[in-house]
Amino acid sequence: MQAPNPAPARKIMLLTGASRGIGHATVKVFYRNGWRVLTVSRAAFNPECPWPGGREDHIQADLADPAGYEVLAAEVRQRLGGAGLSALVNNAAVSPKMPGGGRRGVADTSYQDWLSVFNINLFAAATLSRHLLPELRAAGGSIVNVTSIAGSRVHPFAGPAYACSKAALAALTREQAFDYGRLGVRVNAIAPGEIDTSILSPGTEEIVKTQIPMQRLGDPMEVAKTILFLCSPDSAYINGAEIHINGGQHV
Ligand SMILES: NC(=O)c1ccc[n+]([C@@H]2O[C@H](COP(=O)([O-])OP(=O)(O)OC[C@H]3O[C@@H](n4cnc5c(N)ncnc54)[C@H](OP(=O)(O)O)[C@@H]3O)[C@@H](O)[C@H]2O)c1
Repeated sequence: MQAPNPAPARKIMLLTGASRGIGHATVKVFYRNGWRVLTVSRAAFNPECPWPGGREDHIQADLADPAGYEVLAAEVRQRLGGAGLSALVNNAAVSPKMPGGGRRGVADTSYQDWLSVFNINLFAAATLSRHLLPELRAAGGSIVNVTSIAGSRVHPFAGPAYACSKAALAALTREQAFDYGRLGVRVNAIAPGEIDTSILSPGTEEIVKTQIPMQRLGDPMEVAKTILFLCSPDSAYINGAEIHINGGQHV
């Protein structure tokens, strides 16, 4: 296989879970900053929120299916057309809840639940970064893994499969930073707290009141701008970090 070319003048990122929430805000921020954004989600491209090139750069894929990871990477490689990949943002995730949005505890989590959550939230990130390593190296790229405050403490609404997958994703970030840092690819994580998206459960207002010093939800744009920072030369010596974006909820 021929080695990919270095980064083209217009940087290219691959973002999973782009159809709404934090992913959607991230597309907008990167696009405004001159990036080309390749997006991945199960849904088709959403024409209600278009951006130039968005439809052509969208890839429909279900990250719950590990058999599709290599196919997805090949599709990405084809769309890069020999160019390097400047950023891979592993943002797609699921957080299975009980009916009504309550926490799905350990006793209510089947092996299939564990497997499906780990495929989407962890194994897809690990495998995509492996398949796309030549393209990331060629561009001196960055990986950003989107973890969660639930990875480091019991959360009133996030269940154990989600929490453990995010703890493992934080650990993967450390391992990748060690392995890939010496190859010129930086790997960091961002750990959001309560960000105003559809993943939140009813009752989050109570967490805001009692646990968040800043007394408000986060805005997806605030998360997106941190991801941009981690993919820019301004963060050139940051590798293996996990940045909390939670208004002080973790203190
Ligand atoms: N919002 C928060 O407060 C919060 C807090 C902590 C961490 N996070 C993390 O931030 C990230 C984004 O969260 P969000 O709140 O923006 O979530 P969201 O609104 O639920 O969006 C999740 C995204 O993941 C995609 N996705 C889900 N399952 C998929 C699959 N099987 N294959 C491909 N794509 C899939 C969804 O697209 P489709 O449905 O079209 O596939 C969607 O674009 C996640 O990693 C989440 O764990 C969020």
